[in-house]
Order: sequence, then C-alpha cells, then structure tokens
Amino acid sequence: MGVLKRYGEYLPVTEKTPAVNLEEGSTPLVRLGRIGSDLGIELWGKLEGCNPTGSFKDRGMVLAVAKALEDGAKAFVCASTGNTSASAAAYAARVGAPCYVLLPSGKVAMGKLAQSLMYGAKVIAVDGNFDRTLEMAREASAKYGFAIVNSINPYRLISQRTGAWEICESLGDAPDMHAIPVGNAGNISAYWAGYREFHKRGRSKKLPRMMGFQAEGASPLVTGKECPNPETVATAIRIGNPVSANLAREAARESGGEFNSVTDAEILDAQRVLASKCGIFAEPASCAPLAGLIKLKRSGRLPEGSKVVMVLTGNGLKDPDTALSQVEKPVSIGGTMEDLIEAIRL
Ligand code: F0G
Repeated sequence: MGVLKRYGEYLPVTEKTPAVNLEEGSTPLVRLGRIGSDLGIELWGKLEGCNPTGSFKDRGMVLAVAKALEDGAKAFVCASTGNTSASAAAYAARVGAPCYVLLPSGKVAMGKLAQSLMYGAKVIAVDGNFDRTLEMAREASAKYGFAIVNSINPYRLISQRTGAWEICESLGDAPDMHAIPVGNAGNISAYWAGYREFHKRGRSKKLPRMMGFQAEGASPLVTGKECPNPETVATAIRIGNPVSANLAREAARESGGEFNSVTDAEILDAQRVLASKCGIFAEPASCAPLAGLIKLKRSGRLPEGSKVVMVLTGNGLKDPDTALSQVEKPVSIGGTMEDLIEAIRL
C-alpha cells in the first residue's frame, strides 16, 4: 500500500500532502538459515532490493517528494552514488516534475545510470567524487529553488524509519543486533530513530545494537577522520565525508554498537556467499554487513545465538559488471545434444 499509507499515522502526512505512491516498503524479511547456522546466530535479511527502484531509497524519497510538492516545489535535484538518483528520478517522473541528478563521473553502477536516464532525469556526470557532487547539488538547490532530496532533506530520514518498524512488526520485537552498510550515514541514523520510536510507543521491548559497516577505502566513521579520496568496489558507499556522521555516531554510542570496516575482497566474497547459499543477489555495498559479521565471528566477537537483521539495501542487478567480473564465464557449446552431454559431464 506504500509507506505513506501504511505508516501515515506516524509520519508528517496531512490531508494536504499529495498521496504519492509506488507501492514502496513492505519488503520481505527473510530468514537466512544456512549462513546463520554457519555464524551461530539467527540471521535475517531485509530485502530492500525489492523496492520499486531496487533500493531502500524509495522509503524516504516518497515522503521527500510528497512534502516538496505540498510546499510548491516545481523541480528536484540530488547528488548520488546511483541509488538516490534512481529513486528521485522515478518519483519525479511519477509526479511529472523535472529532476536533475549529479553523479560522480564513471563511478556509478550501470543499472543505476540506466534507471535515472530511463525515468527521464537530466543526468549530469561531475568530474569529482560524491562529496563534491553533494556540495554542488546544495548550491544548485539554493540558486534555482529546486527541492533537494538527498538525506539532508529531513523527510528522507523520517520516512526511512519505516524499515525499522516493519522489522519490529515482522519479528514481534526488535532484533539483538542490526547490521547495516554506512555511506552518507543517513540510513543507520534513520533505523536507530525508528527503533527508538517504536520502543517509546511500546510497540517493541528491545533496542538493537547498531552495527555499521564501511568499506576499508571509504571508512571515515571507523578511522575517525574524513577520507578525501574514497575508493571501493562498493560504489554506493564510496563516500569520504558523511553528512549524517554525527547522528550515526550517536546511534552507535547510544545502542552499544560500533563501526567496522571490511575490504573489497571480503565484500565480494560475502556477495557470492549470499547469492550462492541463500539465493539472494544484493549489490556489493549491501554485502558489507555480511562481510563484517563473518569477520566478527572469526575474531570471536559475534555473540552466539543472537538475533541479527541485516539490511540488504540494494538489488544485485544494479551492478552486473562487478558481479560478472568475479564469476566464471558461461560454458559455450555447439547446438547438438552431444555438445550438451559433454558440457554437463564437465
Ligand atoms: N547501500 C546502498 C545500496 C546505497 O545506495 C547506500 C547509499 C548505502 C547503502 C548507504 O546508505 O548513505 O544512508 O549511509 N547510497 C547513496 C546514494 C549515497 O546516492 O544512492 P547511507
């Protein structure tokens, strides 16, 4: 039914708010039994890749776009590593408004680029990293009066809390541990706010430890210092100066959680494990938490038997190039049954 309808009573939605809806949210929460038993935990994956544009961004974008329209916005702008732009472009198309998206040139996965272009956004590739594109998007917003729909737009994080509420409703309570990739650090902050809100309302009894995972080459929250030249195969989280760093630190501190980094090789291994052991294809950034849990297990820091939810933030189909670069090529054969018999035997 879309998050504005499902959670309207908890969101700043009034009778004047346009009923924007792409049936986002209500994503599956899947028990990952095989990996969970390897890790000695009860592991769940929240399949945010099942959202209409294939990532969690739709949860927040729907409210950001609706409230901007309510306030009279005529056009949208965002900076993005690819998913925010795909989502912004889709919702802008849905409401018939122009959308300008600024991307770090050459560093956006192909599927995400295709999405923004198909939805009809004006796509601008900037010679700079995400952090620079965000500065430029802010300036363009001020100069032209475009509504900015990055997570500096408060409605994004307000509505991204819905992910935590769905998890509590599905499990009957919050998990012991919430594992999530961290880039610009908005989503971990939104989930923590969501868990706290449900707890305050008596809808859940527990509060989870918030465990944020970054790629080693873009890990300012782990190292404690800004990273001027972020680099990682997980392009979605290739961010050196997260806008919501303070909120994210607060979430980790208040919840007894922490930040950890994982290497690109560990991320890609986790991506293959998730796909081949659970049938779930998530994009590289989404696999940082699994890589991190595997690492915590190895160092004896993953409490046995705990209930852990991982947010699988984006669909693997968004980045086919990275996936294809790490698997074997298909077997090519001629068109005879003998060829096939030979291939099956190999
Ligand atoms: N996972 C995916 C698939 C993402 O696209 C992002 C962020 C994150 C995790 C990190 O979330 O920024 O709230 O800490 N993508 C943004 C974008 C930056 O432009 O699409 P975060």
